[in-house]
Amino acid sequence: MEEIRVSSVDDRAAIYRELIPQLKSVIEGEADHVANLANISAALKQVLPGVSWVGFYLLKNSELVVGPFQGKVACTRIKIGRGVCGKAAEQRKSVIVPNVYEFPGHIFCDQESKSEIVVPILNGEKLFGVLDLDSSEYNSFDEADAEGLERVCEMVSEMFVKKNILE
Ligand code: SME
Repeated sequence: MEEIRVSSVDDRAAIYRELIPQLKSVIEGEADHVANLANISAALKQVLPGVSWVGFYLLKNSELVVGPFQGKVACTRIKIGRGVCGKAAEQRKSVIVPNVYEFPGHIFCDQESKSEIVVPILNGEKLFGVLDLDSSEYNSFDEADAEGLERVCEMVSEMFVKKNILE
């Protein structure tokens, strides 16, 4: 398999522009969705400076359950509406948290986490889960991340729809 490579470091929009076609080619050839989510987490951790945790929470029996991720051990289950993940899932909208200490109900999995972004994985209004990224710095994520990660989640959603899996 080809190594993931991006030349941009500071320009987040450019990073996603370079990364997304590479991710597509990694997952296109593989039928196993766990393998694909694991490689997507690894690629995002590799190319986004400062990211301390990145991974998927998947909707199972109306609860978010941790899936493939990179980083420290995390909470296993999150209820819809709870924490940043549960809020993004409930609202079906990306949530950017510049300072986790100022987000009411934030769930601390990693004491080093200072900012966070959570993007829902949707097919129309149908929710498959969320993609969650944490950073050990404040103000790490902005609209460029939301846009780039929404593209990544569209790719994941298309994969789930094709395979007709999950709820
Ligand atoms: N902070 C998240 C919980 C998941 S961890 O960050 C991996 C939240 O508030 O939903």
